[in-house]
Amino acid sequence: MAELLFATNNAHKLAEVQAVLGDGYTLLTPRDCGVEEEIPETQPTLEGNASQKAHYLRERTGRDCFADDTGLEVEALNGAPGVHSARYATDGHDFAANNRLLLKNLEGAENRRARFRTVIALLLDGEEYRFEGIVEGRIIEHETGHEGFGYDPLFIPDGYDRTFAQMTTEEKNAVSHRARAVRKLVEFLHGRKGLK
Ligand code: IMP
Repeated sequence: MAELLFATNNAHKLAEVQAVLGDGYTLLTPRDCGVEEEIPETQPTLEGNASQKAHYLRERTGRDCFADDTGLEVEALNGAPGVHSARYATDGHDFAANNRLLLKNLEGAENRRARFRTVIALLLDGEEYRFEGIVEGRIIEHETGHEGFGYDPLFIPDGYDRTFAQMTTEEKNAVSHRARAVRKLVEFLHGRKGLK
């Protein structure tokens, strides 16, 4: 079974990505490889942050690895919070405060269109590869549901009448930004195996 180092210690993300990868891959976390500190993400774009996190891990561990960075892009807010999604309201990852601020900034807004966008950077055999996943949807007016994390209780993907926070991991993975990007990553890895 192949081992893949993934630049997150977020248990929700790990479970989502492991479910998409299936049994053929075991995910390792930074902690599994002795990296305890928070991995820096100081770039102005999702692409830059994903790449920065992957390079940081590669330098610290010497291993091939991948990192993702995700932003919630809200149309009426000109794409905000975007790359600042984790630290929208505060300096930390305070999901409840972020959700409150998002609702406040959308008060009275008729246009509630939004999308999640994930960028994955993969470092493999000295090369870097990028994969993107997007899910379109809308922001509702009250937090609904208790599954998932982050902005999940406020986001309903197109074609559904439930938020991501009302879905099982399997249901969310059927349409989510991260799952779409990870499926592209898996296809790429399978393709490379075929070449060897
Ligand atoms: P990250 O940089 O990929 O960890 O994502 C930045 C922020 O976006 C997180 O702190 C969450 O607030 C939010 N986020 C990322 N992925 C999701 C998701 O799948 N659902 C809801 N919020 C998410």
